[in-house]
Amino acid sequence: MILDELRTTDSARLDRAGQVYLDYTGGGLYADSQLREHLDLLTQGVFGNPHSQSPTSAASTALVERARAAVLAFFDASPDEYEAIFTPNATGALRLVGEAYPFRPGDRFLLTFDNHNSVNGIREFARARGAETTYVPSTAPALRVDTGQLERYLDVTPGEHHNLFAFPAQSNFSGVQHPLAWIDRAHSSGWDVLLDAAAYVPSNRLDLSRVHPEFVAISFYKMFGWPTGVGCLLARRDALARLERPWFSGGTIVAAFVQRDYHQDAPGAAHFEDGTVDYLNLPAVEIGLRHLERIGIETIHANVTALTHKLLQILTELEHCDGSPAATVYGPRSGDGRGGTVAFNFLQPDGRIVDERYVERIASRHGISLRTGCFCNPGAGEVAFTISRETLIGGTFDDAMTLDDYVRAIGLPSGGAVRASLGLVSNAADVEQFAEFASEFVDLAVVPDDLPPRLAC
Ligand SMILES: Cc1ncc(COP(=O)(O)O)c(C=O)c1O
Repeated sequence: MILDELRTTDSARLDRAGQVYLDYTGGGLYADSQLREHLDLLTQGVFGNPHSQSPTSAASTALVERARAAVLAFFDASPDEYEAIFTPNATGALRLVGEAYPFRPGDRFLLTFDNHNSVNGIREFARARGAETTYVPSTAPALRVDTGQLERYLDVTPGEHHNLFAFPAQSNFSGVQHPLAWIDRAHSSGWDVLLDAAAYVPSNRLDLSRVHPEFVAISFYKMFGWPTGVGCLLARRDALARLERPWFSGGTIVAAFVQRDYHQDAPGAAHFEDGTVDYLNLPAVEIGLRHLERIGIETIHANVTALTHKLLQILTELEHCDGSPAATVYGPRSGDGRGGTVAFNFLQPDGRIVDERYVERIASRHGISLRTGCFCNPGAGEVAFTISRETLIGGTFDDAMTLDDYVRAIGLPSGGAVRASLGLVSNAADVEQFAEFASEFVDLAVVPDDLPPRLAC
C-alpha cells in the first residue's frame, strides 16, 4: 500500500531513528521528497520580496499566488466565494477573525467548551467590544455536545446583531468530530460560523463546496509537517467585507498618508496579510498539498481510522491481573464520529490515575512521542475530569503558585491526560509498539515520586 511504501522510502528516517511518533495533532511529519522539491525550487530560482514589478519580486508573487490557488482548490473552495489569507499559523487566523469581528454591545460569541485556547481567547475581543460570551458544554464520558442543547443556544439570537459561533471540526483533546451540519443549522438562525479545522484537515477531507462556514482556520505543518510558520484563514468574501481591522500595516493598504489621516485598504486577502508574507516557505505549501493529493486524503483517513480503532481497543481492553481496568479513555471509545486523537490515563490497580509525567518518562524510554496535560483545551479537560465551575472559582491560581501547587489545591488526581494521535505515515508497527509500552502499566502499584515539575497544563 502506498502509505507503507512512503514510510519505508520518503519517511525512512522515522524507523532509522527508532522513533514512534504519536503526536500528529501536535504536528505532522514531512516526507523527504517535500524538502527536496522545495530545496530544488529555491536553489534554481532567484526570489525577492513580492509585490513589486522586478523580475525576482514577480517570481515570488507568482509562487505565492500559486500557493493560494492550490489551497482553495485543495478545499474545493470557489475563488468567487472564498479568499485564502496566509497567516503564521491557525492561531494567527483565529486572531484575525477575533480582532476584526464587528462585535457590539448586545452581540454574542457562542462557542463549545471543547475548544483550543486560541479560540477561547477570542472572548477577550468580544468582551472588549461589549459582546456576551456563552459556552455550550460537552457531556462526559463521550465528550460530545448535546445537539438539542446547542440548538437552544443557537435559537437565542437577539435581532439584527453580529453573532459568531465557533467550534472545532475535530477536538484536539478527545478526537471528537463535531457535526459539520451545525454550520447550516447556525446559519439558519443568523450566526456567522468560525470553524477551527486545525486538528481535522490533516486526515479528513474538508469540502468547502458542501459546507460554507464564514471562517476556517488551519496550520499547514499539522497537515504535512513542512513548512512550519504558515497557516491560513479561509474566509468567505461576504464575511471578510464585514470585518473591521483594528489597524493597518505594510502590505494591507494601497496608500496611507502622514499629513492626512487617511488610508485606503488593499483589496481581498492582501488587506489581512500583515507585512511580508513568508514567500520562501509558501511554495512548500503547494508542494505539501500535492503530496497529500498524490496519496489521497481518503487513503490517509482510512488508515488513521483503522489504526485508531486498534489503539482504542488496546486501551479499553488493558486490564490488571485482578480484572480491573488499567486505562481510561476520555471521549468516544468507538471509532464513530471521531478522529485519530485519543486522550486517556493509565490507572493503577486501586483505580488511581498514574501520574502523566511518569507516563511521559516511560514513553520516552520506548522512543514514543506523545503528549500530556490539557493540550491548550481547558474546557474539554474540565469536563473529562469533572472539574466544576465552583471548584475553579473557589481555587485561587496566582502568580506565586506553580502549576503543581494548583493541581494539588483543586484536588486533581493528575496534571492532565495523555494524548496519542495518529496521522499520515502512522502504521501498525507504531500501534504495536504502543501496546508494548501500555503493557508496562499493567499491575503497576507504585509510581516513583522523583517527577519533574509541571510546566504547562
Ligand atoms: C484544534 C486546534 N486549534 C488550534 C490550534 C493552534 O494551532 P497553532 O498552534 O498552529 O496556531 C491547534 C494546535 O494544536 C489545534 O489543535
